[in-house]
Amino acid sequence: MKKVYIKNFGCQMNESDSEVMAGLLAAAGYAPTDREDAADVIILNTCSVRLSAENKAIGKMRELGKLKAKRPELILGFCGCMAQKHQEALFKTLPFLDFVCGTQQIRRIPELIEQARKNREYLIDVSVMDEYPVDQSVAVREGMLKAWVPIMRGCDNYCSYCVVPYVRGREVSRPLKDIVSEVRRLADGGCKEVTLLGQNVNSYGKGLGDTKATFPRLLEHLNDIAGIERIRFVTSHPKDISAELIAQFGQLPKLCEYLHFPIQAGSDRILSLMNRKYTAGHYLDIVAKLRDRCPGIALSTDIIVGYPTETEDDFQKTVEVMRLIAYDSAYIFKYSTREGTAAAGRTDDVPLKVKEERNQALLALQEKISAEKNQALVGSQVEILVEGASKRNPARMTGRTRQNKIAVLEDAAALAGKSIVKEVRRATAVTLYC
Ligand code: SAH
Ligand code: SF4
Ligand code: F3S
Repeated sequence: MKKVYIKNFGCQMNESDSEVMAGLLAAAGYAPTDREDAADVIILNTCSVRLSAENKAIGKMRELGKLKAKRPELILGFCGCMAQKHQEALFKTLPFLDFVCGTQQIRRIPELIEQARKNREYLIDVSVMDEYPVDQSVAVREGMLKAWVPIMRGCDNYCSYCVVPYVRGREVSRPLKDIVSEVRRLADGGCKEVTLLGQNVNSYGKGLGDTKATFPRLLEHLNDIAGIERIRFVTSHPKDISAELIAQFGQLPKLCEYLHFPIQAGSDRILSLMNRKYTAGHYLDIVAKLRDRCPGIALSTDIIVGYPTETEDDFQKTVEVMRLIAYDSAYIFKYSTREGTAAAGRTDDVPLKVKEERNQALLALQEKISAEKNQALVGSQVEILVEGASKRNPARMTGRTRQNKIAVLEDAAALAGKSIVKEVRRATAVTLYC
């Protein structure tokens, strides 16, 4: 049997796409491998969100080119967001590539591989479609306990810094009944936790022509599925989170007390330049409502430092909101110019050194806050879905709490796949020891 190695870069949407690729290739007779030297086909599923992500993928593919020089029958495919962005130009940078496949043509990958076997021409498909472009139901997942479930693809928001709308295409929702039947099937197979994926889940249903297909309704349907214990989702755009969704936190039993809710910046001037369509004040109001409805809710965020023209004063506003909100965790990124986006028309004028300092300052602040928040949980009872042995110490088990915090347990070997309630004995900024 031929073997395929799929290496993933980028976000959960890409991980989910890699699972679809794995499913399509399994049907075409390929067994998965995670060893480059054992693979007949290697696919990189790439990300374009920042220059650093692109450089990583190019570097990796150059390395694989050396492997192919020794083994010319090895087939190399370049897929994902960078494929959609750079298209034919990739053959110039990486002349040894066999095929390039965009984000909406995943189903053509087995065929592209077959063609590549027969001839040595450059093969490419980066065409885009109006309808939902992949059959999610073929996804092959690694474990059964937790699953990513895409509910929409693409993005129509055009935040000024962001390449995603250009590489993922227009927003298209997946039919509600398809999502419900996939989650039912997952539950039958032993899945207990689903994370719904979309660039902005609040606009789920747009274009489906079904007034009942809204995000809150979808959550209710999934909440009714026996076997599913936890529902999460990423990402919700602050500009249009609905009162109905806010009210579901703390109400809908399976909806976890956790929300990834990217603010990006604390300065209204920068938020407006970013085309985010909310102010820091509006965002703080939503957080107050969420915490009022669901006092235990954990919040995480994404922040960009060094957006063009960001002054020290603007940056201090970000520091201020991070102190005020006290997130449970935060992902902090240095602004990276993305060709073709609105922000690329501005000079990237914040020096790298300043971006680095701001990045470090926020990381340090967040670490302190995360440690305090976790410390406050010591002595309380938390529900943990036990996943398996800890990578660091196989004698211990790990899992996550409903608030999405990592928990480490001793003596829980028999409990893999079960939800248990435990007392938090001690805590660090990233881990609860129970
Ligand atoms: N749809 C999601 C985000 C997807 S991209 C949302 O709207 O929240 C993930 C994160 O990458 C973004 O939230 C943003 O913080 C960061 N990001 C996007 N473009 C970037 C850029 N050009 N430079 C630095 N960070 C960026
Ligand atoms: Fe990018 Fe904004 Fe869309 Fe998120 S909502 S993917 S940040 S354009
Ligand atoms: Fe995700 Fe990166 Fe594409 S963040 S959508 S893999 S550009």
